[in-house]
Amino acid sequence: MSDAPIGIFDSGVGGLSVWRQVVHHLPAESVVYLADQAHVPYGQRCASEIQHYCSAIAEQLLQLGCKAIVVACNTASAIALEPLRCAFPSVPILGLEPAVKPAVELTRSGVVGVMATPATFQGELYRATVGRWAGDVRVVEQVCIGLADLVEQGELEGERCDAVLRGFLQPMLQAGADTVVLGCTHYPFVIEAIRRLGGPSLAVLDPAPAVARHLGEVLGREGVLRAAAPDQRGDRHRFFTTGDAHRFDRAVARLVGASCRSEQLAWHNGQLRRA
Ligand code: DGL
Repeated sequence: MSDAPIGIFDSGVGGLSVWRQVVHHLPAESVVYLADQAHVPYGQRCASEIQHYCSAIAEQLLQLGCKAIVVACNTASAIALEPLRCAFPSVPILGLEPAVKPAVELTRSGVVGVMATPATFQGELYRATVGRWAGDVRVVEQVCIGLADLVEQGELEGERCDAVLRGFLQPMLQAGADTVVLGCTHYPFVIEAIRRLGGPSLAVLDPAPAVARHLGEVLGREGVLRAAAPDQRGDRHRFFTTGDAHRFDRAVARLVGASCRSEQLAWHNGQLRRA
């Protein structure tokens, strides 16, 4: 079982920001990454739709023999994490939530900003996280419609990207935020631009390294962590997309520097099939 792969999924390329941390922290592991690009972005879809996609994807990852699943999407985690854990109790399922706790610990101005999709802000998970950790720190929510699309399109820099980011940063900075949480896995791919536009006094938090460390702890506890050995690198990573496989291969190379030949999946009557 410890030789089985870890499954990671997202609506698109965003979860690759988690993939690269998992591969970095757990180099002996093999990973199956699934991008549901046929339906990206998830952020403005309704909860029942997102739940349906997530459960079909989890089923597919289990059929591929995954020993654990990481929902590398804040939106999908906000909506579907608990239903997935109930539906698939045989494997650990980890999700992403905006890193409000570390932001609250870090802020000196007493104001933190959270950048995320509309669906993430509407989810129970986000409300619970803020309720639990914010205390007397003010949390400024910034809905970032269109930002995940820019990352999907590979537009990570340039005037249009800067203008979009400025529009999102300005209200948080004006409110006095000195710490900004990236509450969507697509956003770490524009973290350099956010840092440049936000200035040197703005701390920008990407939760992916903490998620990768937590995954290692969970696998260890479950007794399914693959022992690290220099000759045993998990180099058989597999990639699947419900979108255009060639386009996705180019995005993987550009975003995380990995060369891959992704495999095609297609939706048929609400279920995923190998194309
Ligand atoms: N990567 C997803 C997240 O973390 C969102 C992008 C989307 O809207 O599909 O929320």
